[in-house]
Amino acid sequence: MIKKVDTLIINIGQLLTMDTGSNEPVRGDALQSLPIVEHAAVGIMDGKIVFAGFEKDANTLEAKEVIDADGKLVTPGLVDSHTHLIFGGSREHELSLKQQGVPYLEILQQGGGILSTVKATREATEEELLNKAYFHLNRLLSYGITTVEAKSGYGLDTETELKQLRVVKKLNEIHCIDLVSTFLGAHAIPPEYKQQSEEFLLEMENLLDVIKEESLAEFVDIFCETGVFTVEQSRRFLTSAKRRGFDVKIHADEIDPLGGTELAVELCARSGDHLVGASDEGIRQLADSSTIAVLLPGTSFYLGKDKNARAREMIDAGCAVALSTDFNPGSSPTENLQLIMSLAALKLKMSPEEIWYAVTVNAAHAINREKTAGKIALHRPADLVIWDSPNYQYIPYHYGVNHVNTVLKNGHVVYKRGQ
Ligand code: NIG
Ligand code: FE
Repeated sequence: MIKKVDTLIINIGQLLTMDTGSNEPVRGDALQSLPIVEHAAVGIMDGKIVFAGFEKDANTLEAKEVIDADGKLVTPGLVDSHTHLIFGGSREHELSLKQQGVPYLEILQQGGGILSTVKATREATEEELLNKAYFHLNRLLSYGITTVEAKSGYGLDTETELKQLRVVKKLNEIHCIDLVSTFLGAHAIPPEYKQQSEEFLLEMENLLDVIKEESLAEFVDIFCETGVFTVEQSRRFLTSAKRRGFDVKIHADEIDPLGGTELAVELCARSGDHLVGASDEGIRQLADSSTIAVLLPGTSFYLGKDKNARAREMIDAGCAVALSTDFNPGSSPTENLQLIMSLAALKLKMSPEEIWYAVTVNAAHAINREKTAGKIALHRPADLVIWDSPNYQYIPYHYGVNHVNTVLKNGHVVYKRGQ
């Protein structure tokens, strides 16, 4: 019997469905193989996947539109589970400080770094922030990313934090990328609260109710770091967020090993992010938990650190690992998640299979989108990438360039190379 579909993608050389058959994050031995169909086709109806399998089994599908994938690789749209998307200005002037060896946290202590972006973000209108973020979203899309987490955290006052969160909400309505909003009001201590971190945290805590009421964020995050917020402050702040029904994340053990990884596990955080300084005990606890380890090798690279997150030990211990750009104007100014995939191969020694799980299924888990993003499976949104590549190993291997040929979001072509 003939079945009508809107779109049929034929002549797919390798279809990486990432459909493991379970709705759990992928860890352990399961990371060694990928669900692949060769000589495949995908059928799409009303923006959803209605067929994904061998092309020879698709001959009962009659399509309004046929896309010939020309033997290329097709995967789910990538998920970027950690970005600081909304900000004013830029920080190219810090590059020479970095070259002189001034540490990241010292630039921050001197009122630069995050605080210089705070100044620019406070000065920007909502419309300016929206237009700027829209530009970066288009670039993320061009790299094959169809779902993006976006944090606030460059306002550090009531008005500007809400302004940032409203921009995320608006962008989610007007841009085809799905956005997931995180409140990171506890990102740094603003100059007006110098030496008064408790009072500042109280102001941010007082914002939680209105954020909840207006559905402005799903997650609450904090920068748990030397000179920023202590483990004890992070515990209190995030516990208070959880009490109000937020899911939580932590910038944990990014630069100094404070024990943020253990705190992420203790709080059943959805993710612990960075984890460069995670202790052996932290890794052990993480492996036994549902918290996703979101690793950001672009940040270690850009900050000129020799030390990277111990991805091999984490994966071998049984942690569920995701990878993300950490896109932000200071420690990782890039929208290129494919470059991060290469860094994960070269610096974190992750295998291509582990890397693909880390930018699809596990990344979706890190932002509570495991039911809708990161897989090509029946009844799910048709978010797909057609790559200028014969196989999945090629993407982390050929580094620093964009391999995307076509991006489909909810079944519609939203990006095509060269157009
Ligand atoms: O994830 N570490 C804190 N936040 C960001 C950097 C923000 C910035 O430098 O503007 C990060 O690295
Ligand atoms: Fe970050």
